[in-house]
Amino acid sequence: MLYDQAIEATNAILAHVACKPVVALVLGSGLGDLAQELDDVVAIPYTEIPHFARSTVAGHVGRLLIGNLEGVPVIAMQGRFHLYEGYTLQVLTLPIRVMSLLGAQTLIVTNAAGGVNPAYRPGDFMLIHDHIALPGLAGVNPLIGPNDERFGVRFPPLAKAYDAHLCALAQSVAARLPEITLHAGIYTMVAGPSFETEAELRFLRVIGTDAVGMSTVPEVIVARHMEMRVLGISLITNPATGIETDDPGTVNHTDVLAIANAVRPHFAKLVRGIVSNLSLAS
Ligand code: HPA
Repeated sequence: MLYDQAIEATNAILAHVACKPVVALVLGSGLGDLAQELDDVVAIPYTEIPHFARSTVAGHVGRLLIGNLEGVPVIAMQGRFHLYEGYTLQVLTLPIRVMSLLGAQTLIVTNAAGGVNPAYRPGDFMLIHDHIALPGLAGVNPLIGPNDERFGVRFPPLAKAYDAHLCALAQSVAARLPEITLHAGIYTMVAGPSFETEAELRFLRVIGTDAVGMSTVPEVIVARHMEMRVLGISLITNPATGIETDDPGTVNHTDVLAIANAVRPHFAKLVRGIVSNLSLAS
């Protein structure tokens, strides 16, 4: 049963290191280097944690990191799992359940995303204000199946899934960092792994998408199921407007990682600023 698996994984982590994280971090494509910023870090490869999947994507190292950031106990996923890797959403989100069971009440989830909003530039960040779960609306949701009340309720609400206080905090931190452009918008999850056609991108824009990506939403649904507070941040790595030009360019994973690498110090400053001021966001 999923609950027993989560408990076994939690106990295996506690056998490595006695920890009581306050904040859980999911580090998206190319953003895993934030891990270098943690103090007193203990790294546990996913391969050593029962029931954890394996990271198979470049830019996703595949370790759980336990340490301190700005003196705050954090647990970080250096590499996440995706639907397109073939994992079920229950397996893919198990680490979120485990980080919650370890005590983390706040989840900061990050990703690389295409900028559907024409005003967004590669290297900009976007606070996720709300999301559209295309796989979810089509019947692919991590909560499908028997509900275990020990995790949460059968029908969790997702209105206001992204915590308004945390969003305000992130915006005030970004306002003090001139090198950062932080938009706020709607993230739409697609399944991937193929990137979108131009017609699909225009469809995404019509339904209100500002940024598109292949992750994050399942983790957020499970975090809300467990009543964690959620902050979501997308790094815009490429234009994905669907606007037809003579040279539409091509998006590829290498470019996604290159942009992530270029903004690494900015991203670290933003996350540090948020974590160190968390007490202001309540
Ligand atoms: N589409 C989907 N996922 C992505 C993109 C994109 O353009 N860029 C980074 N992740």
